[in-house]
Amino acid sequence: SSAFVVAIDGPAASGKGTIAKRLATDQQLAHLDTGLLYRGVGWAAVSANIDLSDEQALADLAANLNLAELESNKQLRGDQAAVAASKVSVLPAVRAALLQAQRRFANEPPAGFHGSVLDGRDVGTVICPDAAVKLYVTADVEVRAQRRLNELHTRGASDTTYEAVLADMKARDARDMGRATAPLKPADDALILDTTLMSIEVAYEQAVAAVKAAK
Ligand code: C5P
Repeated sequence: SSAFVVAIDGPAASGKGTIAKRLATDQQLAHLDTGLLYRGVGWAAVSANIDLSDEQALADLAANLNLAELESNKQLRGDQAAVAASKVSVLPAVRAALLQAQRRFANEPPAGFHGSVLDGRDVGTVICPDAAVKLYVTADVEVRAQRRLNELHTRGASDTTYEAVLADMKARDARDMGRATAPLKPADDALILDTTLMSIEVAYEQAVAAVKAAK
């Protein structure tokens, strides 16, 4: 396909979503937040009381997701959905059920777009190994936990602590990096953007430079 694909991977609260959204707007690329798909499966599983060990039922949920519905469901943004997402995302049948839709979005973006930007955990390694640009956005887990806590406070959810957020994030990192199928890791040819000390503005400038160089 001739679509221009930007793949952005990294752990939670690294800044990858912010960079993906801005790139999409500034470079006129269609954007897919792939984490939303896993959040959708995790949330649907919890809502319907489907056991996290029932791989076939979860794969069926994955095969029947509706992207427009996911985008409008505010509950998917919360940490409960994130935890459920990271549990269902270890299952190979769930990942397989979501693979083709992600690839299709990347290679045949919606009408009006010449390319796409996808962010997630395995975009550069599994979904789009031939992407024109691959970024791996990361930061120390303590910094990411503090960012997530600030975000939760901004949204009015103040009934949690730094320690709780940090423990959650470490558990999620361990599951995402340690799973057998499509673990979180940088692609060999990814540009690493470590936002521990780098501001999001500087990281974004480097991302734009990489995109312009690849065009
Ligand atoms: O990016 P986000 O925090 O929304 O992702 C939620 C969870 O979904 C991640 O912790 C991960 O377990 C899973 N995920 C994944 N592969 C992706 C995107 C997300 O396994 N491409």
